[in-house]
Amino acid sequence: MQVKKASESFTIMNELVLPNDTNIFGNLMGGRLMYWMDIAAAIAAGKHCNAPCMTASVDNLSFKTPIKIGNTVHIEAKITRAFNTSMEIHLKVWGEDHLHQYSYESNEAYYTFVALDPNSNPRQVPRVEPETEEEKRLFEGALRRRQLRLVLAGKMKPGEASELKAYFTEN
Ligand SMILES: CC(C)(COP(=O)(O)OP(=O)(O)OC[C@H]1O[C@@H](n2cnc3c(N)ncnc32)[C@H](O)[C@@H]1OP(=O)(O)O)[C@@H](O)C(=O)NCCC(=O)NCCS
Repeated sequence: MQVKKASESFTIMNELVLPNDTNIFGNLMGGRLMYWMDIAAAIAAGKHCNAPCMTASVDNLSFKTPIKIGNTVHIEAKITRAFNTSMEIHLKVWGEDHLHQYSYESNEAYYTFVALDPNSNPRQVPRVEPETEEEKRLFEGALRRRQLRLVLAGKMKPGEASELKAYFTEN
């Protein structure tokens, strides 16, 4: 089984917030941001597995700080862990005000992608080797997050979610 470093999937994407991207308050629309995040995450997933990927799910997403018109959206995406055919991608988003030279955290999220073979069937992906402390922490938590999203999607029985059960009983 091929193993790749988490850092090999690292992707940075920048977008300028223009009038057509905003709501009536002059802030970036959430749907547009999710679209850009989806693209950044798909690129990171593709770098890891070198195959076409499909978005399988997006975990809960809350918008901490609005990103203003004229500011830049800075998105960073990196794989946390690969399972059999699926990959969890972690995204961090900042707004950047180049005029006043400061940046601010907007939100973070986890997207799950599935690699597909030429017949559009899920195909196996390389394992992930985390290196930094943050990559190791995200790698460890990925199993619990996977079980939670599969239970919520009705694809796993709560009784089978051992990591999740341990998390709630230990904390
Ligand atoms: C994602 C998709 C390819 C999975 O296909 P499937 O027939 O459900 O395949 P399986 O049940 O064999 O699951 C394949 C993998 O997807 C994962 N998966 C399936 N549904 C999931 C969900 N809701 N959240 C996270 N992972 C999911 C499974 O855990 C499995 O991962 P693993 O192999 O690493 O264990 C299929 O559901 C699909 O095509 N969905 C539409 C995707 C799409 O249109 N995306 C664009 C957004 S509109």
